[in-house]
Amino acid sequence: MSELTKKFDKKRLGKIFLTAPGPTTKQMFSQFLKARKDPAGFLVEMRKKYGDVVQFPIPMLPVYLVAHPEDVDRVMRVNSKNYGKRTIQYKNLALVTGDGLLAADTDSWKRQRKLIQPAFHHEAIMRVGPDTVLVTDRMLDKWDNLADNTIIDIDDDMMHSALEIVGRSLFGIDLAGDVEKTAQATLDALDIIVARARTPITFPKWIPTPNNRKLAKALKQLDSAVQRILDERKKITAVAGIDRDVDMLDLLLAAHDDEGGLNSQELRDQIVTFIVAGHETVASSLTWTWWLLGSNQEVQKKLQLEVDEILGQRAPTVKDVEKLTYTKAIVDEALRIFPPGWVVSRRSLENDVLGGYEIPESAVIIISPWTTHRHPESWNDAESFNPERFLPNAPTPQKGTYLPFGIGPRMCIGKDFAILESVLMIARIAQKWNLTPAGGEPVPRALVMVRPEGGLPMYINRRT
Ligand code: HEM
Repeated sequence: MSELTKKFDKKRLGKIFLTAPGPTTKQMFSQFLKARKDPAGFLVEMRKKYGDVVQFPIPMLPVYLVAHPEDVDRVMRVNSKNYGKRTIQYKNLALVTGDGLLAADTDSWKRQRKLIQPAFHHEAIMRVGPDTVLVTDRMLDKWDNLADNTIIDIDDDMMHSALEIVGRSLFGIDLAGDVEKTAQATLDALDIIVARARTPITFPKWIPTPNNRKLAKALKQLDSAVQRILDERKKITAVAGIDRDVDMLDLLLAAHDDEGGLNSQELRDQIVTFIVAGHETVASSLTWTWWLLGSNQEVQKKLQLEVDEILGQRAPTVKDVEKLTYTKAIVDEALRIFPPGWVVSRRSLENDVLGGYEIPESAVIIISPWTTHRHPESWNDAESFNPERFLPNAPTPQKGTYLPFGIGPRMCIGKDFAILESVLMIARIAQKWNLTPAGGEPVPRALVMVRPEGGLPMYINRRT
């Protein structure tokens, strides 16, 4: 008997073999509503019940949840060559982002990543510092007109600010006027992607179903934002002698290799990718950070002590980020508990073995940072908010245990950008304001990102 069959006796389901434990078809049906309502929580339950590799009984398609850090590390890093992105998740995302960096499969991705990586090098993302402070101050000016104990929707404010920062820092454009429409278009497009992924039958894009019409409208809005970004840039570059820093758009426009530069479709796809990937992710993470800070006032107090000591009332800069160690630890810990990208997927190219189970070629692998960040072998008391886990003197998490930005070659290209932005924005707000929850416990709604159902009301109060 081989090592594999010792662990699990293969069973046939239609045309596929079940090679790992998991729910039966009947059990899946009984769990259907729960899985739909709270898919992130459902995956956590599945791991608890069946172990670190769970196979779902899906006819025609072998689908596995892989939760153990070692196996996650194997799929995403060590043996990443064996795992592409030809999955429903990325196929649907491509309806919005086209063949941009996030959704692209291996060959097209390699060229793109080489072309685009320089745009995210250290110096290239430095302008996120002043841009974050400017946009945050603009939001805080609005708060200044409100009385203490006013309730705001922090989710809404974070969404708008994150989009404005992406617009300014990456594309040198003030999206403030367009922000409402572009933010809504991004959300609509992403909602439809989720709806498509959760429905067994989807209609091609050209059939005018209500969802397809909504998608077409959202795409039109996103395309017009892209056009505006490119038009503005043309105007600026046509005028000689304007003194300005090189930004990501300049680097994208100048990028080229032996095959030339990015054509207009590729350019559009990258810009939409960065709007989509760089906006709701950061906003979601900031929203949950404020929820955690609001419900853990002793942590918020420590944060205030740190920003008072390091910054006083002056505006933070990128150089301060390495000194704001507690603020950074808060951001890291919030990303552990509420990773905005709660699920990623891969497709195996050849057979592999994960956690001792045979994984056939062409299997879909579901990796959920949400689940792995709650793995009892790696995280004590995983549900509790404890920034101390990420202070500089704390042990570095083992590979595969902590992956809010993914790991391996497909790791988030915007990670440093996102961390700088988050630390600076949290610090800037904490200098002047204290936040407390104004509603009950928010319900995390796991769509493309995890967002609080119906927004997140919080009281804002000037610090005394
Ligand atoms: C807190 C904020 C963010 C989180 C949690 C996050 C999360 C992630 C994750 C989990 C992946 C890997 C997906 C996979 O392996 O399938 C990813 C990839 C990516 N992210 Fe982010 N992201 C964030 C911010 C950003 C920002 C600010 C940008 C751009 C400005 C960005 C652009 C991208 C792109 C282009 C990829 C694809 C990279 C590749 O495949 O080469 N992300 N992100």
